[in-house]
Amino acid sequence: MKYIIAPIAMLLLTTAAVGAEEITWRNSIKPIVQERCLGCHGPDSAPEYPAFKEQKEQWLAKGQAMRMDSYSHLIAFVVWPNTGATMRRLDDGQNSKDGKPGNMYRHLGASEEERQENLAAFKGWIGHWSLKRWADTSKDELNGIKAKY
Ligand code: HEC
Repeated sequence: MKYIIAPIAMLLLTTAAVGAEEITWRNSIKPIVQERCLGCHGPDSAPEYPAFKEQKEQWLAKGQAMRMDSYSHLIAFVVWPNTGATMRRLDDGQNSKDGKPGNMYRHLGASEEERQENLAAFKGWIGHWSLKRWADTSKDELNGIKAKY
């Protein structure tokens, strides 16, 4: 009997794995960023983060924020050096100390339903969803971050 069960179990496991498609930058996050974030975060002449910081008022006056239009740019606001920035800004208030949403949460969608859907995509993509900064983040927590390309 076990000779029959093993192949069937393996087949079922494979089917389940294929069904639950992994969230990646390419299949889920890039389209959201393109639609909801790039109006302010690039790529057209949007500054690198340190350049933005140097002349913040001028960039803000132009309606331009730091570049986040590529995988490499965004990852710097997830892992390092701006550890947790994406999580702090996009959280809906469930994980923040004061219960308030991050100030980029509203950009996630035109309706609450869309915002929640896109937040779920970001959470699934990042994996370990922590609002902590670099100094308070442990290596175990960093290992929990998936953020696949
Ligand atoms: C209407 C313009 C606008 C849109 C749209 C927008 N942002 Fe922002 N974002 C800004 C500005 C301006 C700042 C800098 C001021 C601040 O820190 O709040 C900023 C800051 C950030 C930061 C903080 C970076 C840091 O560490 O200082 C993150 C992360 C961020 N945005 C993510 C996003 C994401 C993700 C989206 C899309 C869901 C998005 N933003 C959409 C204007 C925007």
